Amino acid sequence: MSNRGRFYITTPIYYPNAEPHLGHVYTTICADVLARYHRLVGEDTWFLTGTDEHGIKMVKTAESQNTTPAELVEKNVPIFESLWKELNISNDDFIRTTSARHKQGVEAIVRRMLDSGDIYLGSYEGWYDEGQEEFVTETEAKANEYKSAVSGRPLVRYKEPSYFFKLKKYAPRVLEHIQSQADFIQPEARRNEVISKLSAGVEDLSISRSSLKWGIPLPNDPQHVIYVWIDALSNYITAMGYGQADDALYQRYWPGVHLIGKEILWFHTVYWSAMLMSIGQPLPRQVYAHGWWTAEGRKMSKSMGNFIDLGKLRGVIGDYGLDALRYYLLRAAPFGNDLDWTETDFNKAFKELSDVLGNCLNRIVKMVGRYRGGVLPAAHEPVEEIDRNLQAQTEMLPQRLAGSYGRVELQQCAMLPIELARATNGYIDATEPFKLAKDPAKAARLETVLNLSAQAIYRSLLGLLAILPEKAAAGLRQLGVELEGRTMEQLLSMPLPPGLQLGEGQPLFPRVEKPA
Ligand code: MSP
Repeated sequence: MSNRGRFYITTPIYYPNAEPHLGHVYTTICADVLARYHRLVGEDTWFLTGTDEHGIKMVKTAESQNTTPAELVEKNVPIFESLWKELNISNDDFIRTTSARHKQGVEAIVRRMLDSGDIYLGSYEGWYDEGQEEFVTETEAKANEYKSAVSGRPLVRYKEPSYFFKLKKYAPRVLEHIQSQADFIQPEARRNEVISKLSAGVEDLSISRSSLKWGIPLPNDPQHVIYVWIDALSNYITAMGYGQADDALYQRYWPGVHLIGKEILWFHTVYWSAMLMSIGQPLPRQVYAHGWWTAEGRKMSKSMGNFIDLGKLRGVIGDYGLDALRYYLLRAAPFGNDLDWTETDFNKAFKELSDVLGNCLNRIVKMVGRYRGGVLPAAHEPVEEIDRNLQAQTEMLPQRLAGSYGRVELQQCAMLPIELARATNGYIDATEPFKLAKDPAKAARLETVLNLSAQAIYRSLLGLLAILPEKAAAGLRQLGVELEGRTMEQLLSMPLPPGLQLGEGQPLFPRVEKPA
């Protein structure tokens, strides 16, 4: 199945056991940036997110709040849905695992796994991490003193009849795929982790729970509910109509790219690949595992008071704007690495937006206003070396960005256009248009400087459209450019035409008195 020119991107579906926080917001914003970029360059794009509503974790949380899992999800899912609207997330769909369409799709998937002879009845005895919804081997459990490697909470001993999926049968093919497709798992270091764990061997996977009622019943034995990860991973195709009457979206967009946090890479590459092999469907195009956020150097925790929750995020957005938050999140570390939320870094990132990008645009719009009545002048021959350097950087930006987006180097995607704005500021400092303006004999030189600076900031803003959707569009309006749903190709094919009437110069990122 070819999907050239098509791009399907997903986030994990989140557990609605509590309100979303920085971690969920981060993945969703990164996926949003990718979706926006691919749409801008004219690809047929689909962006999916949603909620993972079954499993023991939801049951236990509901119990602790004296409510039912059904009531708990009805309370929390709308919070996720409305948050994504509030954060201007451009998802095309939102899948809930309690929806009828998802259940129908999961049943179809499990039936196909049964038809392949890949499911058998046995009994599970062993350790379970209820926060991660993960079976843990005796060796791993012992190594972590019978506590969760992620949350530190005690593991729970399970003993019950269970259906198993023949994971062992597929493990060699999955390993072969991971080894032969270098891009399948990114980044590289994480890929190696999966390879070494998989090479050590796997057991068949327990895929049903007979002691749990909150889940999708197994079609062949409704006394069991389907293991929450089998249920959850299926969302990526059930949301596209797989196993239902209308699977046009599935036919059009699958295979997709999964953006996830590093702690759930194993599920997405090993379990999910084996499931897809069992039902005879193509594997995902790529699984990209990003790092984890800490805050001020420590694990985020409510008791330590460093938890970046919705309230804190809304405060930052209120003070600095949503686009500043988006930029900071991408800018904070090379994509894939762990990240640390610090006030110092946030202020540094905001300064790049206000003092480098915003200031550069403002200087240019103001100078064109003052020296040429707001009408963009043409550049004149001969150009000097300093001009050619800026022109080369300006021209190269779209291509460099395409490379970085292709490799999902999101930090680079954020920084490259800012670097061009920084170079433009340097160019203005060096060519001194304010002095040229005083000498009528230097009018042509002044016009060249104004034109080339404007072309550079224009490209920088275009390059930031996926990351700063509101601010980049506002900046482009100051340059007299309306986007009107044009693709990047159309925009790039036309430099700013001389004679263009620029708009009002206004600070894009006004200074904020309050510290972050
Ligand atoms: N429901 C599963 C995923 C099923 S996907 C088929 C799940 N949900 S979750 O609510 O726990 O969300 C996990 C995801 O949230 C991580 O993979 C990551 O994308 C994001 N993050 C949660 N905490 C995070 C950090 N501290 N830092 C970065 N992202 C983390 O797992």
